[in-house]
Amino acid sequence: MKVAIMGYGVVGSGVAEVIGKNAGVIARKSGVSLELSHILDIREFPGDPFAAYLTKNVDDILNDDETGVVVETMGGLEPAFRFVSACLEKGKHVVTSNKELVAKKGDVLLALAEQHNVNFLFEASVGGGIPIIRPLFRCLAANRIFEIAGILNGTTNFILTKMIMEDMDFADALKLAQQKGYAEKDPTADVEGIDACRKICILASLAFGSHVYPDGVPTKGISEITLDDVKAAALAGFVIKLIARAKQLENGKLALCVSPTLVKKDSMLAGVSGVFNACLVRGDAVGDVLLYGQGAGKLATASAVVGDVIDCAVHDRERIRLGWEKAADGVLEDADKVPTALFARIKNADEAALAAALPGATLLSGENGETLVLTGEAPAGELNAALAAFDPVTVLPVVDY
Ligand code: HSE
Repeated sequence: MKVAIMGYGVVGSGVAEVIGKNAGVIARKSGVSLELSHILDIREFPGDPFAAYLTKNVDDILNDDETGVVVETMGGLEPAFRFVSACLEKGKHVVTSNKELVAKKGDVLLALAEQHNVNFLFEASVGGGIPIIRPLFRCLAANRIFEIAGILNGTTNFILTKMIMEDMDFADALKLAQQKGYAEKDPTADVEGIDACRKICILASLAFGSHVYPDGVPTKGISEITLDDVKAAALAGFVIKLIARAKQLENGKLALCVSPTLVKKDSMLAGVSGVFNACLVRGDAVGDVLLYGQGAGKLATASAVVGDVIDCAVHDRERIRLGWEKAADGVLEDADKVPTALFARIKNADEAALAAALPGATLLSGENGETLVLTGEAPAGELNAALAAFDPVTVLPVVDY
């Protein structure tokens, strides 16, 4: 099977490397032999071991009838969407690691793949090298999924880990993440939760069956989290993680959100440190499953991409059932109605008034005379309105895992 790569950056070059060095292992395990045909990139790579495959013209891939699978590792929406659509229309399978493309255009591309009887696979778009798309869709197919909660962004988990373990403040931890090459030069998509939002939308679409678009999901990043928040959470027995959640409510609607969230200090998610990712899936038959591993990086992400390429080659003449339908109207619950538990830091609190306003809440003593509040579960809008009267310094959701 001949394979072309569009986008020769970190992941694209990892894909070429893995196909080159693991050809024997791949052939033994799958019975297919993978061979590179073209690598599309507008940049020059003098002296690169795969330089002979480079082209700047996408038509070289589109018009090559021998290229059966195209890997898209360009990132961003355009021209990736245009090029991927053209490949599918030409009857080529497409494999992508591009979460923005899948989260925003997955429904359109899945329909196009079906129309042209080819596969559109995207294992690497969530959790880097962690197998998560197939386990969710295939191995857990017997389950009704209640909830998915993940640490799906390595950059923010690295920053929060530094804040929790080393008392480093947000700005210094971000600088370090940039020095280590984890955060993008413009770290907005990581730090403001946009990247994690795209990933939870992909998982929710798969688990619940219809496309969930990122722009409908309440998304808050970690840029306003302070060391005082981290310490207050610790006093209450929690750590702060950027959690992307998707849950099916009893009324059938979906509740999605991305937010810095308090997770119990001794929970599995609390132990996920540094740039690692983890995703908790709750199914009615299986119970809780935690998928953990490297959520980014050249070879880890290439591992997931090449796994998809192998699947396309093995199933060249059949469609792999993996995907979802177009977005359904009214599928997302109004954020204010979603049952939530909240944590708040309040200065100079009138504790009797707090207890009266939030029956069932636990009040703890924080540092510098602050009151720490842990509410019970109630509609988020009601809790936020009750807390607003006390002018809280910070309000964050709390989960029971
Ligand atoms: N910027 C992403 C992260 C890369 O930090 O997790 C992988 O999607």
